[in-house]
Amino acid sequence: MTTTEVIEQALRAAVRAPSVHNTQPWRFVVTQPLVELHLDRDRVLPVVDPTGREARISCGAALFNLRLACQAAGFAAVVDPLPDPARPDLLAVLRVSASRPATPEQTTLAHAITRRATNRRPFNDRPVPPAHLRALVRAAEVERCHLVVLDTPKGLGTFATLLRRADHVQEQDPIFQRELRDWTDGGADGVPRAAGGPRPEVGSLLALRQYPPESTVERPYERDPLVAVLVTHGDTPRDHLRAGLAMQRVLLTATVVGLSASFLSQPVEVPHTRTALRTLLDLSGQPQTALRVGYGHPAALTPRRPVDAVTTLGTEVPS
Ligand SMILES: Cc1cc2nc3c(=O)[nH]c(=O)nc-3n(C[C@H](O)[C@H](O)[C@H](O)COP(=O)(O)O)c2cc1C
Repeated sequence: MTTTEVIEQALRAAVRAPSVHNTQPWRFVVTQPLVELHLDRDRVLPVVDPTGREARISCGAALFNLRLACQAAGFAAVVDPLPDPARPDLLAVLRVSASRPATPEQTTLAHAITRRATNRRPFNDRPVPPAHLRALVRAAEVERCHLVVLDTPKGLGTFATLLRRADHVQEQDPIFQRELRDWTDGGADGVPRAAGGPRPEVGSLLALRQYPPESTVERPYERDPLVAVLVTHGDTPRDHLRAGLAMQRVLLTATVVGLSASFLSQPVEVPHTRTALRTLLDLSGQPQTALRVGYGHPAALTPRRPVDAVTTLGTEVPS
């Protein structure tokens, strides 16, 4: 494979990353052997994500796929994060270089890129084996983040209370609801209606975000859900990028062992519940996202904008 072919393949992998409301807030500039990853400011959600934190996490996930696809193809891929303080939206530069063999883990994870999808439907009650949980925790650690598994009724109960509180704040906010509706069923971006899950029946522990917001179908969800919170040391753009790398490694690791996952971002998005989450769960860092993990029917892949629409060649600056 040539460097050109590897980069093309890696960009196709990058755009399969998850992103908040499927906004796909990334742009790439390719000047071989370098690939620049830029934050697309026009796609940062002003209501749910005013600081761009979740957009940078999404870009971190795309960076993970980009790097992994190069490595799996037998190329070295070295990442320089936030290389230019004068250009804060240049999130990373990836240098693709002389070949070296992929490790078995890189090969296995790379195969999971096109199988991973957010699964918002109920999971069954089969417990997740401790060895799989340890693999998810280790995946976050490899990227220098922590995955805090809420494995006590008290921790899970506290999280669920804050989740309901934050979900209520967002549900009652017409501006939040309008933004959510604007990003539901968009075509090549936004969350397709078909990817939404049923509304958890009254009395369910977890409040799940509804795509579309007016969905009324109710179903029981898992009785004893498995929830984990991804935590970074700080809360800088570098931490957000790192959170994205860790989140994607966790999600792909879950896919490899047959687990599904969906997101429970509401308490991390609403400022006062984010603070409460940190204090009440005694987290030694900043919560960046929360995941529900379990066994379910595989979810379908959602659309993406084509690579050409998000890539510029040579020295052109992305508009
Ligand atoms: C930082 C971040 C936060 C997200 N938060 C939520 C959420 O709270 N609820 C939800 O259902 N999906 C959430 N998602 C999932 C996205 O909607 C999903 O990744 C996107 O629609 C693309 O679909 P896919 O993951 O199936 O490829 C989040 C994704 C990211 C990256």
